[in-house]
Amino acid sequence: MKAPLPIAVFASGRGSNLQSILDATDDPAFPATVELVISDQADARALERARLSGVNAIHIAPGEKRARLSEEADTRLLHILAEKKVRLVALAGFMRILSGRFLREFFGQVINIHPSLLPSFPGLDAQDQAVRHGVRWSGCTVHFVDEGVDTGPIILQAAVPVKSDDTAVTLAARILPEEHRIYPEAIRLISTGEVTLVNGRLSWRQERGESL
Ligand code: GAR
Repeated sequence: MKAPLPIAVFASGRGSNLQSILDATDDPAFPATVELVISDQADARALERARLSGVNAIHIAPGEKRARLSEEADTRLLHILAEKKVRLVALAGFMRILSGRFLREFFGQVINIHPSLLPSFPGLDAQDQAVRHGVRWSGCTVHFVDEGVDTGPIILQAAVPVKSDDTAVTLAARILPEEHRIYPEAIRLISTGEVTLVNGRLSWRQERGESL
């Protein structure tokens, strides 16, 4: 059997998506392993979840900037990831924009989960945006990260209905279990090479006619 792909999860808060990844990796047959969890928030529940699972949990002081990490934090992050030989970074509710330098270094190796059917409703409060627009369907998207906000090639999506009396809270509660289902699945697809990024587009092994 191939060695599991070493991944890092970046999370700023509650960490329920992180938990779904940790639970998936509990299965020894899962093709990835969480080497470390990184947060820009020292008191993030995500860090606690990592520790409870015996995974390295690291707080990176983000610096003064509101939306981005400081250059210093960026450098430290790249150093830690190189040290742990991380091959894939999964953003799971990580509320900072990664630098161009970071994304160039990890080109095609950073993925994100977002609580809408992208390209609709990128950015903050995606569930609230969906309710306010009165869309009948919303959901979640796992995508490769590029230098835009919630842009980049889409790997998996799941749709849920939006009800006329939904609030952002009730819609978020309907979307979340779908996030927990498709995020580990996307990581599995990448780790096994079933899906790869070729010239900025997704390439599926099945469509290429190759066998596993
Ligand atoms: C999730 O709903 C995730 O999709 C969203 O933050 C939440 C984190 O929850 N991410 C974004 O909005 C990114 N643009 P969690 O900490 O319980 O995984």
